[in-house]
Amino acid sequence: MTVVHLRSAGTSFVLDARDAGMPAILHFGGDLGELTEPQLRALADSSVRAVPPSALNAPLRLGIVPLLADGWSGLPGLDGRHDPTPGQALRRPVLRLESVESSERSARVVLVDDADGDPVLRVEIDYDLSEHGVLAVRSQLTNTGSADFELSGLAAVLPLPGSARERLDFAGAWSAERVPQRAAIDVGTWLRESRHGRGGHDDAFVTAVGEPGFGFRRGEVWAAHLAWSGDSRVWIDRSALGFTALGAGELLAPGEIRLAPGETYAAPELLAAWSANGLDGISARFHSWVRALPAHPDSPRPLTLNTWEAVYFEHDLDRLLGLVELAAEVGVERFVLDDGWMIGRSDDLRALGDWTVDPESWPDGLHPLIDRVKSAGMQFGLWVEPEMVSLDSRLAREHPEWVLRETGDRLPESWRYQYVVDLAEDAAREHIRDALLALLAEYPIDYLKWDMNRDQLGGSAHRQVLATYRLMDELREHHPNLEIESCSSGGGRIDAGILQRTQRVWPSDTNDAHDRQTIMRWTSLLVPPEYLGAHVGAAPAHVTGRAHSLAFRLATALFGHAGIEWDLSATDPAERAALAAWAGAYRSLRGLVHSGAVVRGDEADAGETVLGVVAPDARDAVYWLSSLDRAESSARSLRRLPGLDPALDYRVEPVEFGADPAWYWGTPPPWWSDGGIALPGSVLAARGLELPMLLPDETVVVRVRAL
Ligand code: DGJ
Repeated sequence: MTVVHLRSAGTSFVLDARDAGMPAILHFGGDLGELTEPQLRALADSSVRAVPPSALNAPLRLGIVPLLADGWSGLPGLDGRHDPTPGQALRRPVLRLESVESSERSARVVLVDDADGDPVLRVEIDYDLSEHGVLAVRSQLTNTGSADFELSGLAAVLPLPGSARERLDFAGAWSAERVPQRAAIDVGTWLRESRHGRGGHDDAFVTAVGEPGFGFRRGEVWAAHLAWSGDSRVWIDRSALGFTALGAGELLAPGEIRLAPGETYAAPELLAAWSANGLDGISARFHSWVRALPAHPDSPRPLTLNTWEAVYFEHDLDRLLGLVELAAEVGVERFVLDDGWMIGRSDDLRALGDWTVDPESWPDGLHPLIDRVKSAGMQFGLWVEPEMVSLDSRLAREHPEWVLRETGDRLPESWRYQYVVDLAEDAAREHIRDALLALLAEYPIDYLKWDMNRDQLGGSAHRQVLATYRLMDELREHHPNLEIESCSSGGGRIDAGILQRTQRVWPSDTNDAHDRQTIMRWTSLLVPPEYLGAHVGAAPAHVTGRAHSLAFRLATALFGHAGIEWDLSATDPAERAALAAWAGAYRSLRGLVHSGAVVRGDEADAGETVLGVVAPDARDAVYWLSSLDRAESSARSLRRLPGLDPALDYRVEPVEFGADPAWYWGTPPPWWSDGGIALPGSVLAARGLELPMLLPDETVVVRVRAL
């Protein structure tokens, strides 16, 4: 057959599909240039391994679906079996290449299992290299046999070079999402599995592997992410056989996928990217992929006020109308009514599933509030949690069969006093859908904050995720301009599956600016800033009890889709004036922040961070230069500004955003006091510049424009 070479944006992908055996990926990394057919064949020949002692007699290769049958003793890419006939021997899948087709940036491989005569399995794998160098791998499996096939797993697997000896992935917890963890890649299998029915707060999120010491701006690195909102597994196998494989796929419960003859299972898409120069190159590629999604928001991201930390469950119309007035005064553009508006929902013990307005708190429905919001020129958003039900609800009383259960009548453990609606039951999904459509018909709702506050812990996560996607898609079919935010007790469900149907994510329930600095820096590895809700909260922060300066809270919330989550009636006029000035700064920065490339610095002092966004033409940029800890020495180090064009001259100026960051006594550097300085891009990128000696937990924001 052939050797396939896909090229895009400095990346090459080479697939050896020359014979009927299992194809192998020979290269996914830096561009190899234009290669002729003989050169590609020579490349493939030069990749054939020596046969070592005490090994298979034929050269081993890591197939695109690694299987025991081909000599791969690491985790397999496909596992499962047909219902055995009595007396039949143990049989694992055996695949051979049936066909391969390719075009400039994509290839389709068809594999079949007909080792015993009749074809019993068919696997189709699509490799697409996007315009910006993101490799998408989509696999599907069809049972072509005559007995049922119970699938244990179908994963996308990529080879890693021997130089990739260090791994970065993420852990976390509620209000502490995206905690990076790094380790060496040693021999054996490293495996992360998620059984939350969502990614979870500890989601592995993006798995990056690279040369030891890779950073934001240095080191060759590969990264992968599974575009899926349910149970998943990702692994790295460094085999004593001399290969390292990165695999990822849906985590399936025993018996969860049983394919009748002729049925097909589609695995979630794997996204992978390569960068010669660290993680910033990875996020640039992932952001381009996300920004090309049809669901990507195309309007300026409206400054948002969310009522949760302002009023919690206390829904009093006068109080909320007061909040609307103050929101309008400071320049808010979208007002979001959070949890507490449904019938009987005075706390989190009840009423989930009943998507009708509480007649006691809201005798005239939501109209008086929404009318005022709209007349103040703001959009209106509403909190919902459509996948969930409280036992104390009309829904659970009238349709107990829709509360997702394990076998028999056993409910999963209660979590925040709530349970999951079995959306895979069409009648249940249609009931929820119609209730939401009725709300959308009665009220001019621009946006739903779509929450999901528990692990599923029972039933089929596969069916539930597909049904949730379908529900979201149905709502947006009826209301194409409706925006949806993915919230899951903060950032418990942020992935490229949900991003295909949402316009915002809520990275964390903590509005503590110190914690947010790291959560935003790492969540933006996959998700571009225009999706990342970033709210100014009260001091002390509700979740941590820590009090930060207004300047730090304001500056931190400028990176992302900005908002306010603060009881404005408890603010004084000076604070509201600061918020109004900050709102102006947000409006003037958002065009840049929501379209540029995110860059970060590899600082020597862990307490000093650099986060920036650089316009595609590098003529405009904004940087957050933060001190998150006590300085290691009596002077902070020079801060470099990554991502600029070394050939351009720039002017660097402090951004005013309503409050002044605080520094230790003493004088700031002269350029700061002068209000700016002109410097070549080469100097800013390679040498950096002095900053005021910031106190811990302060950020200065600078704008850098080409002269
Ligand atoms: C969890 C969310 O993350 C919060 O922002 C808030 O919407 C609450 N749920 C409401 O119950």
